[in-house]
Amino acid sequence: MAKKSIKDLQKKDLEGKKVLMRADFNVPLDGTTITDDSRITETLPSIKYLISNGAKLILVSHLGRPKNGPTPEFSMAPVAKRLTEILKQEVKLAPDCIGDKVKTLVNGMKNGDVLLLENVRFYKEEEKNDPEFAKKLASLADIYVNDAFGTAHRAHASTEGVTHTLPAYAGLLIEKELTYFGKALSEPKRPFVAIIGGSKVSSKIEVLKSMLDKVDTLLIGGGMSYTFYKALGYNVGKSICEVDYIETAKEIMSLAKEKNVELLLPTDILVADDFSADAKTKVVDFKAIPDGWEGLDIGPKSIETYVNVIKKAGTVIWNGPVGVFEIDQFAKGTFAIAKALADGKAISIIGGGDSAAAIKKAGLVDKIDHISTGGGASLELLEGKILPGISALLDK
Ligand code: 3PG
Repeated sequence: MAKKSIKDLQKKDLEGKKVLMRADFNVPLDGTTITDDSRITETLPSIKYLISNGAKLILVSHLGRPKNGPTPEFSMAPVAKRLTEILKQEVKLAPDCIGDKVKTLVNGMKNGDVLLLENVRFYKEEEKNDPEFAKKLASLADIYVNDAFGTAHRAHASTEGVTHTLPAYAGLLIEKELTYFGKALSEPKRPFVAIIGGSKVSSKIEVLKSMLDKVDTLLIGGGMSYTFYKALGYNVGKSICEVDYIETAKEIMSLAKEKNVELLLPTDILVADDFSADAKTKVVDFKAIPDGWEGLDIGPKSIETYVNVIKKAGTVIWNGPVGVFEIDQFAKGTFAIAKALADGKAISIIGGGDSAAAIKKAGLVDKIDHISTGGGASLELLEGKILPGISALLDK
């Protein structure tokens, strides 16, 4: 069901109104320095739309996973500073996210002002989706907007609870994410290819099964490959392998056959004698991983095969690296996939998290159609799940 977005609200609906917008400003920090501000810049279209139409904009987000109430290292202060720089207008940081002090600040706002509330996870009631806490948050505003795609899979007070008392609209980032994923999943330009990597089959079972109903080709890579090899009866040396999921891997391979999906595993592997940057390495056939060695990247033949599949694709969704790309000597496969996506004609969609980090590390961000701002959220969308932060919004 399509959701109402802020584009359904005109100046007459927004001017002078207090708008509470949930954003996902859970940005990576090095001390107080933001090392990647894309989650902030991606919310600018919504912020600009709301303030240019005269709203008084109250932003709320979590940052990290604070467990002991207010703690300086989880303060939203670096985000307020960055927003002030980007918007070229002062974005005040409230000392709290609810309460009288915040109300006084809100009451002093002029049309077009922006106020950022302090980390909403300083209250344990946030993650518990406590109705009283949600009411207190909601009481700050007239209208609620959710633009926190990255947190839309969480039914928390600031993503779901507040929608019980405020009219709730999607922000433009959520709308954009849903458009890309929605089109790819319901009417993909074919051939439709999914690249699913990452270290564990156990965390990708649902996405693998769900993709088998949709794609023409499924490319598997990363640590999870070794559980598949084991399921085929091969030795995996000291590679990561989830023995409890061997049956699951077999089931996924037989489902692929049944559904006529081409499921490809890497045919050669870069193995190392140690999980380290200065380990000895060699390329071996996937059927011949020696004892004492572990697979940490796909090999050159597999790269060639995967790149060719990507070249011919109409749509590609990528979730999870195919090697340990954080270490240079195991990054070739992941970067080759990133480059193939950047150079190819396919509509390219990157699930957030590690694959987004790989694209950024490869310097190819501008050549990808859509890089999701949500790791967990995009995975749940691909699994076919309903995201509570989105289903709670008003229907069109
Ligand atoms: C994320 O970074 O995936 C989102 O901000 C959600 O954070 P969480 O996993 O701590 O809920």
